[in-house]
Amino acid sequence: MRLSGKTTIITGAGSGIGRATALRFAEEGARVLVLELDHENGQSVVNEIEQMGGTAAFYQLDVSNWKQVEDVFGDIDAKYSNIDVLYNNAAVFWGEKDAAIDELDVEVLEQIIKINLFGTMYCSKAVIPLLKKRQGGSIIHTSSSCGIIGVPNCDAYSASKGGIISLTRSMAVEYGPDGIRTNCIAPAAIHTPMIYESDLNKDTFDEQEFLSKGTPLRKWGRSEDISNIALFLASDESSYMNGAILVADGGITIS
Ligand SMILES: NC(=O)c1ccc[n+]([C@@H]2O[C@H](COP(=O)([O-])OP(=O)(O)OC[C@H]3O[C@@H](n4cnc5c(N)ncnc54)[C@H](O)[C@@H]3O)[C@@H](O)[C@H]2O)c1
Repeated sequence: MRLSGKTTIITGAGSGIGRATALRFAEEGARVLVLELDHENGQSVVNEIEQMGGTAAFYQLDVSNWKQVEDVFGDIDAKYSNIDVLYNNAAVFWGEKDAAIDELDVEVLEQIIKINLFGTMYCSKAVIPLLKKRQGGSIIHTSSSCGIIGVPNCDAYSASKGGIISLTRSMAVEYGPDGIRTNCIAPAAIHTPMIYESDLNKDTFDEQEFLSKGTPLRKWGRSEDISNIALFLASDESSYMNGAILVADGGITIS
């Protein structure tokens, strides 16, 4: 029980990596607050955790809406005495609409940055007073290989994920003295619903070619490969880690 007695918040916990992490945190004894835009998926994760004998609650939230974020975190503050962990996982990757900057629709550009980068900043802004009150905690951000290397045709997504790496470092320095650790996971090629937004959906995509040439480990990652890292960062086992960017991509960014 590596998270016994801890209260954890996970955004985008209704699908993929967020869902797997919600179940993993619950298995390890945490209370899990599921913050998710999709009502049905978010509530079903809570039901699953309760069926396992765990404790969870669902909040419907659009992370890109500051007023909603403020209200949800205000409610959480009033209901729970201590918040220990915030996992900023919610994001969108819109393969069809994202593009090279000169072709990018300005409204799409603004929406992607607002959900991915502002959403992470809004939830961080809202949780800091709660963590300062208990004099510590762990914040986990989510970047991507696109925040580290250049990837064509997704300039808005890449910029949002690069911004999250910088935010990780500035928050680590800013809030380290308060005992609040901020770290970041940078995944790639994790087999979740999100990857169907990528080239995988196109007739021209050759999966064997991608796995044999693009990924040194020659396989897709699983959501559990990321939730294990999130568990480590959420737990006291990583108590001296602050400002780290943990890349989990089968080696894609170094090949
Ligand atoms: N799957 C990959 O290969 C991969 C690679 C790099 C980075 N990531 C990152 O990992 C994280 C999880 O991705 P995933 O693959 O599990 O994707 P996913 O699409 O399966 O899950 C994302 C979740 O975020 C929720 N969400 C979207 N917009 C939201 C909003 N405005 N407010 C609240 N919730 C919202 C969705 O409803 C969904 O449940 C994301 O930050 C993503 O950018 C994933």
